[in-house]
Amino acid sequence: MARYHPLLVALHWTLAALITVNLLMGFFRLNEIDNADPAKIDALRTHMIIGGLILVLMIVRTITRIRSTKPPEPDSGSALLNRIARPIHYVIYAVIFGAAFSGMALSAMAGLPPIIFGGSGDPLPESFDIYAPMLAHWLFGIVLAALIAVHLAAVIYHEAIRRTDLLARMWWEDKQP
Ligand code: HEM
Ligand code: HEM
Repeated sequence: MARYHPLLVALHWTLAALITVNLLMGFFRLNEIDNADPAKIDALRTHMIIGGLILVLMIVRTITRIRSTKPPEPDSGSALLNRIARPIHYVIYAVIFGAAFSGMALSAMAGLPPIIFGGSGDPLPESFDIYAPMLAHWLFGIVLAALIAVHLAAVIYHEAIRRTDLLARMWWEDKQP
């Protein structure tokens, strides 16, 4: 069976875990802690380190994706779905980069690096809402969560209804005979 490159498989699952953590953390934890609460700095540090790791791994993933041979498109039974599947995957790539870059722009504008990583002791800004990249970062988060939901629905549709073994394409070669 034609599969994705083993490195791409490893990156897909590692990134799926990291992105899920950062989305959940962003929407359900960071949002809940007041900027005056000292716990906010630790939570932001974790979120920003994971976000930076996501960016680095996405660069490796993009290069691997361009250089490796891709398995042929699976047939969804619909000409329209067949046509939009690959472009949607590219949009997912772009939105992940958008989330990472807008997060870094927000961090830079709000002067976060010395507070979060330099131990400057300065207070966090009262709110992040006054910085334009915050809106972009929030939007990228919402759009990414929606795309992941569509992605999961597509995988379930292929596996359960079309009976195409899509998960095997995004898994490593079975060495057993
Ligand atoms: C944060 C979560 C996720 C993101 C951002 C994500 C993103 C992507 C992207 C961009 C691709 C296209 C690969 C490429 O062309 O380079 C892909 C493929 C795939 N993903 Fe995910 N994914 C996520 C979670 C999941 C989960 C939870 C599952 C399983 C239930 C899954 C199953 C698959 C499968 C089976 C493929 C291969 C599709 C094919 O054979 O063409 N993904 N994913
Ligand atoms: C792809 C990676 C990332 C994802 C998926 C992500 C996701 C999110 C989400 C969903 C929120 C909550 C938005 C809201 O409801 O207002 C958030 C907040 C935030 N993120 Fe990220 N983020 C990522 C990377 C980064 C990076 C790299 C940085 C900085 C270096 C960063 C800094 C922040 C900050 C400062 C907040 C505001 C926290 C608050 O509202 O109090 N993020 N992120």
